[in-house]
Amino acid sequence: MKIKLGLLYGGKSAEHKVSLQTALAVTKAINHDKYEVHPIYITETGEWVRGTVLAGPLETVAELEINEKGTAISPVSLNTNMFALSDINNEEQLDVIFPLLHGPNGEDGTVQGLLELLNIPYVGNGVLASAAGMDKVVMKQLFAQAGLEQVQYVSFIRREWEGNREEAYAKVEDALGYPCFVKPANLGSSVGISKCDNRQELEKAFEEAFLFDRKVIVEEAAVGREVEIGVLGNDNPSCSVVGEILPKAAFYDYKAKYEDGSTGLAIPADISEDVYEEMKTLAIKAFKAIDGSGLVRADFFLTKEGKLIINEVNTMPGFTPFSMFPLLWKHAGVEYSALIETLVDLALQRHEEKQQIKHTM
Ligand SMILES: Nc1ncnc2c1ncn2[C@@H]1O[C@H](COP(=O)(O)OP(=O)(O)O)[C@@H](O)[C@H]1O
Ligand SMILES: [Mg+2]
Repeated sequence: MKIKLGLLYGGKSAEHKVSLQTALAVTKAINHDKYEVHPIYITETGEWVRGTVLAGPLETVAELEINEKGTAISPVSLNTNMFALSDINNEEQLDVIFPLLHGPNGEDGTVQGLLELLNIPYVGNGVLASAAGMDKVVMKQLFAQAGLEQVQYVSFIRREWEGNREEAYAKVEDALGYPCFVKPANLGSSVGISKCDNRQELEKAFEEAFLFDRKVIVEEAAVGREVEIGVLGNDNPSCSVVGEILPKAAFYDYKAKYEDGSTGLAIPADISEDVYEEMKTLAIKAFKAIDGSGLVRADFFLTKEGKLIINEVNTMPGFTPFSMFPLLWKHAGVEYSALIETLVDLALQRHEEKQQIKHTM
């Protein structure tokens, strides 16, 4: 019996196209003798469309963009979302779902919550870890609690900023000074993020960041190399080798990440054994601080003095075969297809364990 695997991809998000690339790569790498792959496409307008079982690997992204016409599944109500997942005929009840989604509505616990309600096993982090990993303020608070070193920061909700902008800017200048980074609290892919060197840039950066969120975080600029590590597992996770981002842009922005290929990756990063050991310890601490499961990519700044400052964890890191996370595992001896299988196994294990939990007295 094949495992019925739902591939959930696309999404109403800035990372729609990245998600399609990832899904295409997964259909190419996955063992179709072991898994029966069911595509579930979320269109750019947020409609969920269930496709027919794949016969094998796909060749083009276009094949994944299932036409919503002629299917019974359309608008974005809770019921129709469930409809797309748990099949009407019951024959096609999925064994596990692999959400290949990034950012809000994909990586933030919302889809995870839907899958919890449906009691379908799914790959990756649960509701809490996903939500905590998406909100840069909450994530920082959890990291602080776990004793992880971080940059100084301040945060504002829109009302505070609108109420007294001058006070907000003064607070940033007092607490952090320049240069600083202004970011929407709940996004990814560097969207809405600006580096500011003066008051004028700060004002513009606030306007920009508040377009994307009602909460904004401002951070002191860290000076150091950007190093990243993969964490894989549930209760007893393990770490990959370390990779380094070698940016040509001013910082690792959306364009550098996805469009112009201006960023190089060094894998493994040229770091000492001591730094590597320390980074593994810190990454697992971070994973546990958000109650992670499945996978995270933990991102750090490494200062000249050899100090590791955590920047963030990504609960659904870039997952094409050319993305950092799969490449880190490849160098650790885990090929892309094996990585996919491991993640599915971890999802099934976590779900199995959850079924043992008592729900009544
Ligand atoms: N406090 C900081 N100091 C120095 N560089 C930063 C800082 N915050 C962000 N950056 C730069 O901006 C990039 C994107 O910021 P990040 O917080 O990782 O957002 P995202 O969640 O969008 O990836 C980082 O990879 C880094 O290059
Ligand atoms: Mg980042």
